[in-house]
Amino acid sequence: MSKVVKVSEDTHSKLTGMAKWGEPLDQVIQRLTTQKGLEDVIAGTSSICFIDGTEGRLLYRGYDIRDLAAHSTYEETAYLLMNGKLPAENELQRFSRNLFAKRPVPPEIISILLELPKNCDAMDALRVCVAALGVFDDPMYSLQEKASSIAAKIGTVVAAIHRHKHDWTPIPPKDDLSYAANFLYMVTGKEPSESDTRLMNVFFILHGDHELNASTFTARVIASTLSDIYSAVTGAVGALKGPLHGGANEKVVEMTSEIESSKNAEKYVSNRLANKQKLMGFGHRVYRTMDPRAQILKEMAKDFLSTEREREDFQILLKVEEVMRKEKNLYPNVDLYSGLALNHMGIPTYLFTPVFAVGRAPGWLAHVLEQYSDNRIIRPRAEYLGSQGSKYVPIENRATSR
Ligand SMILES: CC(C)(COP(=O)(O)OP(=O)(O)OC[C@H]1O[C@@H](n2cnc3c(N)ncnc32)[C@H](O)[C@@H]1OP(=O)(O)O)[C@@H](O)C(=O)NCCC(=O)NCCS
Repeated sequence: MSKVVKVSEDTHSKLTGMAKWGEPLDQVIQRLTTQKGLEDVIAGTSSICFIDGTEGRLLYRGYDIRDLAAHSTYEETAYLLMNGKLPAENELQRFSRNLFAKRPVPPEIISILLELPKNCDAMDALRVCVAALGVFDDPMYSLQEKASSIAAKIGTVVAAIHRHKHDWTPIPPKDDLSYAANFLYMVTGKEPSESDTRLMNVFFILHGDHELNASTFTARVIASTLSDIYSAVTGAVGALKGPLHGGANEKVVEMTSEIESSKNAEKYVSNRLANKQKLMGFGHRVYRTMDPRAQILKEMAKDFLSTEREREDFQILLKVEEVMRKEKNLYPNVDLYSGLALNHMGIPTYLFTPVFAVGRAPGWLAHVLEQYSDNRIIRPRAEYLGSQGSKYVPIENRATSR
């Protein structure tokens, strides 16, 4: 039998409350050893989203993403995420009516947006507007109404950011258009085709939720302090802005245009890998196989590609995918094929991350509601690597720094 080593008085004082006196040391070490970037660390419980990284499966509230992408809409999936079940016909109608009625944004938000420099980053503009919504939204709204108001208005704000960049007047939402069709209408100024509306729905569904990704975790941490829902979503927007999270599909589009022809793809990838550079749209913290969202967009691409340029860009991505599999055993994530879809619908590249935010909003909101419903403040510990017992030296006696 192996000997159990227990926490001594000395170790106990060093661990300052993180271990109990007499607790088996191997248990403490296991508990306190954190993976860099919290890899595989279970940081809480949730009933919203399940990812099987080995099999490449993604479920929202138990429903497979493939089924939702094939049959559902933005409205139905947002209801599912935020309410925990698929709606009955009358529930979906009520939810959609309420959502559509909340799409117009307060005029103060548009005034604030118009004050921002036209060339400012679209995610910076979104962060400012979501934060301002916390001040100008209807103060009488219940928590549920605030959630649906944010989901409804975030699309209107993103479209207005795009219009402002070009000095074009923002287009108000059109009552008789679905969430996805109206979003495209407010961006492009044209009512979209049925196939583009379907593609927009699928894009939103695929981005609806993804468990404790960085932005959702940020939202939950903020909600766990019992701060308000607008603050939680503002924080999430900030986390999504980073290129390792929301910004990767923009970089994929840049890469595709640099490669130019599928004939150049293999050399391009090999050069980048030889220089230890990452290729955006590949790798994932959880998936060890193809991200099912990438698979769905890849399959859809065959139907929506309509120009020679789009078809060549798709061939480039197929080649890059093949080389990455061979050289690094890395698979595509959702961002590899999503840029093709967004550009195809007339969404400019600089708007990709804000559009991701529109799709992810129902997931953020569902997680914030779930956090509030059974809350305990999220407050982990850090393994201290610094010094102890440093002696305070008065400033006049400290060496001058060079
Ligand atoms: C998604 C991502 C941030 C996950 O990060 P992570 O779990 O911390 O994984 P790491 O960055 O530690 O990568 C592990 C290994 O795979 C390699 N790798 C991961 N993603 C890679 C990529 N896109 N291109 C080339 N190599 C990659 C790393 O270089 C590392 O190799 P090493 O062990 O030889 O150093 C990472 O894969 C990445 O930066 N991908 C590109 C950005 C992207 O597409 N983001 C969208 C995510 S949906």
